[in-house]
Amino acid sequence: MQIIPVDDFDLVIFGATGDLASRKIFPGLFRRWLAGQMPSTSRIIGAARTDIDSAEFRTSLRETMAKFATKEIEDTEAFEAFLANIDYISIDATGDKGWKPLAELLRPNVIRAFYLSVGPSIFGAIAENLVQHKCADRNSRIVVEKPFGRDLESAQILNAELRAHFKEDQIYRIDHYLGKETVQNLMAIRFANALFEPLWNAQHIDHVQITVAEDIGVAGRGGYYDKSGAMRDMVQNHLMQLLCLVAMEPPSQFEADAVRDEKLKVIRSLATVPRRDIVRGQYRAGAGEESYITHSENPSSSTESYVALRVEVENWRWAGTPFYLRTGKRLRARATEIAVMFKEPPHSIFGKENKLPANALIIHLQPDEGITLNMTIKEPGPGGMRMMEVPLDMTFAEALGDAADFPDAYERLIMDVIRGNQTLFMRGDEVEAAWTWADQIIEKFSENALKPSQYDPLSSGPEESLALMHRDGRRWRDIE
Ligand code: BG6
Repeated sequence: MQIIPVDDFDLVIFGATGDLASRKIFPGLFRRWLAGQMPSTSRIIGAARTDIDSAEFRTSLRETMAKFATKEIEDTEAFEAFLANIDYISIDATGDKGWKPLAELLRPNVIRAFYLSVGPSIFGAIAENLVQHKCADRNSRIVVEKPFGRDLESAQILNAELRAHFKEDQIYRIDHYLGKETVQNLMAIRFANALFEPLWNAQHIDHVQITVAEDIGVAGRGGYYDKSGAMRDMVQNHLMQLLCLVAMEPPSQFEADAVRDEKLKVIRSLATVPRRDIVRGQYRAGAGEESYITHSENPSSSTESYVALRVEVENWRWAGTPFYLRTGKRLRARATEIAVMFKEPPHSIFGKENKLPANALIIHLQPDEGITLNMTIKEPGPGGMRMMEVPLDMTFAEALGDAADFPDAYERLIMDVIRGNQTLFMRGDEVEAAWTWADQIIEKFSENALKPSQYDPLSSGPEESLALMHRDGRRWRDIE
């Protein structure tokens, strides 16, 4: 695999003692270090409220990395060299403490990036302090995690707070789905192959199914989740991004604003979703597991852990081809896929008894990345022409061998920040448009008729979700 090293940088991680930093950011950075992508002089500065020094922080990293990067840290020499480039500053995000030492620690003439792995309520204060204490200048980058607001209004406030101190071309809003290998491959499949694009429209595609199913529940993070729900936690961001990449027009080039302009047009073309096209669910107890109500510690919770939608993209390309989206916790399996379901052949020359299945292109994102094209062939053997469906299957791990060792989404995204490439980050107007669309759905939740239906753990979700498809004479693909 070709590795192109990035330029020298100082990366400050706010929330350095938090969960995301321990699980994803530091292990991801270490993998990039091992891959030789980070210059040996590059530095990482952890910043958090906890009152410890750099040596103590490195000790705590040794412990967390033993959990989340078990295999990688076996290379003890490399791990110690990596740790030697890490400092820590105890900082008060909203006060004065720690800012002067931070400014003194930062080197001139290298790229500066500030990763805010903290709650959105302190984005504004950190942005202000960074500029006021001369830690950040016009060339610095600021990275913010989701949730980017909980509705249009709060997202607008966050955008205004960031833009008061940084220009849009310095702001990197993370949606980690955009860093996933197959999500980017979706653009390659569409725009690097002449095969699909002529068929990629309502004339040939019957409908599209986007599924992000998780088998885990919300135990351990029920407090956050109960205030959010599947619509805010997954649909407004991750599923929306997948939908955009399937539905967008070809950008003129693979460049940040060209790509984001096209995605924005898709979001703005989305129709208002009527109540009958919205299904909400909440998992009950079963299969030896507790219910959502128990996990969220809120006995009267009416937050959804599952949502299914029938969505229409009102533009020339897609009029008449619905997009069905669904996501949920505690479902049958962890499975993320995009299924592009083509129309049935217009006429069977093989007789009425030979119903011809429609072709389908399935893009598998998780757990195994790959592509399947369902084709119809003749059933082998004598006795006439009977048709059968067979998958033309390509699992990337098999097809690519060692080259299929993809970097994790966070690793890729952080390296893109250092390179100054915003293609895989959400622009402010895109986030606001996504909230405008999501808000009209969330507003309908407050109506009694849209209380979540209960579903069994390890099932495919609530019955109503099946009915959403049956009504249109279609069915969901199995979650497996
Ligand atoms: C996060 C959500 O953004 O994405 C979680 O907050 C969800 O609820 C997670 O579990 C799923 O990400 P992935 O990469 O495991 O599909």
